[in-house]
Amino acid sequence: MTLLSSSSISTAIGSLKMCFYGAGSIAEAMVRGLLDRGLTEPGQISMMNRQNAARMEELTSRYGVNTSSLEAEKSVMLQEADIVFLMMKPKDAAEAILQVRDLLHPGQLIISVIAGMTIRTLETLLGKPMAIVRTMPNTSSTIGLGATGVSFSASVTGNQRDLAETMFQAVGLTAVVEEQLLEVVTGLSGSGPAYVYYLMEAMIAAGSELGLTEEAARELTVQTVLGAAHMVKATGENPADLRRKVTSPNGTTQAAIEKLDANHFSQAVISAITRAAERAAEMGAEIERKATS
Ligand SMILES: NC(=O)c1ccc[n+]([C@@H]2O[C@H](COP(=O)([O-])OP(=O)(O)OC[C@H]3O[C@@H](n4cnc5c(N)ncnc54)[C@H](OP(=O)(O)O)[C@@H]3O)[C@@H](O)[C@H]2O)c1
Repeated sequence: MTLLSSSSISTAIGSLKMCFYGAGSIAEAMVRGLLDRGLTEPGQISMMNRQNAARMEELTSRYGVNTSSLEAEKSVMLQEADIVFLMMKPKDAAEAILQVRDLLHPGQLIISVIAGMTIRTLETLLGKPMAIVRTMPNTSSTIGLGATGVSFSASVTGNQRDLAETMFQAVGLTAVVEEQLLEVVTGLSGSGPAYVYYLMEAMIAAGSELGLTEEAARELTVQTVLGAAHMVKATGENPADLRRKVTSPNGTTQAAIEKLDANHFSQAVISAITRAAERAAEMGAEIERKATS
């Protein structure tokens, strides 16, 4: 098998017809990322949803992509696509896939963002052997700063892996993991933005309670979180090392960290992520049970 160079991958992506089945926020983020990065042209992209015609018009006028609310046209879009993105909510996914599975064929690459739906369930619903990429993006994909976990079915080729990774890198970074670890990815980066928002809520509340205006507390908090994330990235240093560097003996940061330790901060975060991963597994099992019953 010949593996493509990165410029060849970009060229290959541009030559492929992509159909987004489900046209919500993650689908829009992907389309915007692909177009902004110049990886493809609007004419290569089709998008469809279930009933929201105004949303279709909005996407066409915003990005110039092909959309349709007519069933016959939607069928052609799905049949003619080289890559079919499954972009609906988990609760709608089984029905949506069963509706179109006869239109799909093994030459197509299927890319799913459906939380909790396993490759095995997707294979069962599709009813035929197909190359499947299962992903877990996060909400920051909508501003191009996403973190996406990616796993592949056994039949996904090396070139298809590169294509899929390159497309998700258009909305952030990717981490390829074994499928069972997507639950951990869900607990860490999938739900992760909410943990940071929660920390920020607490920081803003503290600043306000201690006398700052709400606006000042918010601006200082946002810049602090932004700056800290950039510091880790820009220096390549471990967060633990950066923390130690700003923690002078007997200083203010040490006093604060002692309070966090006394309140079991690290254990709380670890048990939160562990519980989120467990919950992802529970929800995945429920989706699997419903989809295959
Ligand atoms: N948003 C995130 O940050 C995030 C993060 C990780 C994973 N995900 C996963 O990404 C998926 C999509 O999430 P989202 O936030 O983009 O959802 P969303 O904004 O609610 O969009 C879902 C889309 O699916 C369409 N749809 C539902 N049933 C359909 C059917 N039978 N046929 C055709 N289209 C159908 C909806 O169309 P109508 O509007 O016409 O009903 C809508 O366009 C979910 O599985 C979610 O688990 C999202």
